[in-house]
Amino acid sequence: MTDFSDDWLACRAPADSAARADELVRRLAVLPRAADGTCRVLDLGSGTGANLRHLAPLLAAAGHDRQHWTCVDHDPALLTRLPGRMAEWATNAAMACRATSAGLLIAGGNWRASVRTLRLDLCAGLSALSLPPGGLVTASALLDLVSVTWLDALLARCRAAHCGLLFALTYDGRCTLSPEHAEDARVVERVNAHQRTDKGFGPALGPAAAATAAARCRALGWCVETAQSDWVLGADMPELQYALLGGWRDAAAQMTSAEGAAAASAALDAWLRARRGWVEAGSSRLRVGHTDLVAWLCEGNIAAT
Ligand SMILES: C[S@@+](CC[C@H](N)C(=O)[O-])C[C@H]1O[C@@H](n2cnc3c(N)ncnc32)[C@H](O)[C@@H]1O
Repeated sequence: MTDFSDDWLACRAPADSAARADELVRRLAVLPRAADGTCRVLDLGSGTGANLRHLAPLLAAAGHDRQHWTCVDHDPALLTRLPGRMAEWATNAAMACRATSAGLLIAGGNWRASVRTLRLDLCAGLSALSLPPGGLVTASALLDLVSVTWLDALLARCRAAHCGLLFALTYDGRCTLSPEHAEDARVVERVNAHQRTDKGFGPALGPAAAATAAARCRALGWCVETAQSDWVLGADMPELQYALLGGWRDAAAQMTSAEGAAAASAALDAWLRARRGWVEAGSSRLRVGHTDLVAWLCEGNIAAT
């Protein structure tokens, strides 16, 4: 929901990686290189760097074997944790990761990425953010938090800077729970209403974020492709299921009216007990809808700017 602790991000990372629509990344082969030969990437709401860890090898496979990443987040604890998470990942993948005066340098088999972090509140600081001309602006699990006003401001700046875009893992409101429980539909409806509340950027787009971004990008002249990137959580991911269901219970409770609060709370507790029981028994399956979006500029529409 709005828990962005290191533990939560680590818990969701395997489901995120399995869900992402990697085939979209090939579209980014058209991104031009900067004067120093690198592909410049700006990762918004980077947390501890999960988007970088997933995307850097795919970008390399799309022809960008020299990358320069700037990872932006407002949470200093997550940014402090980022180098450690990068080092663990590099070690597990038999890659090198070393600290430099500017940040980190990661050496994959046939690609390199330099990484720096930037602490910035993207709500207040968007206009001060330096965008990479012709580079990539990306975010994972961020877009559903933002308002349409903020999104429009971001897209206008990205368009002026001729950036490509990759927005991954935007929650889109589709949820399927199995086995079924009588309260499921009511809980999901309230969760989706909670998704539209203000997360710091103004009224959040929530489940409408990916479709809104796709429409806005097309209107601004980007070529756009989207694909579903749903979490499919089964018996192999009990911890994520427990955390998600608890978060849904709390979000749904916040969206109940004051008069019905006691009865609603009891019904939600019963729902959570039943669903946790199915997780414990290994029979619970949750499908949580996400959408990935890639947007790129072709010769013709760059010239039209
Ligand atoms: C759901 S997490 C996703 C983190 C990371 N992209 C990932 O996929 O693991 C959302 C991230 O957005 C960051 N965030 C939320 N509001 C922000 C703001 N106003 N300015 C900068 N970062 C923000 C949070 O700190 C968190 O790291």
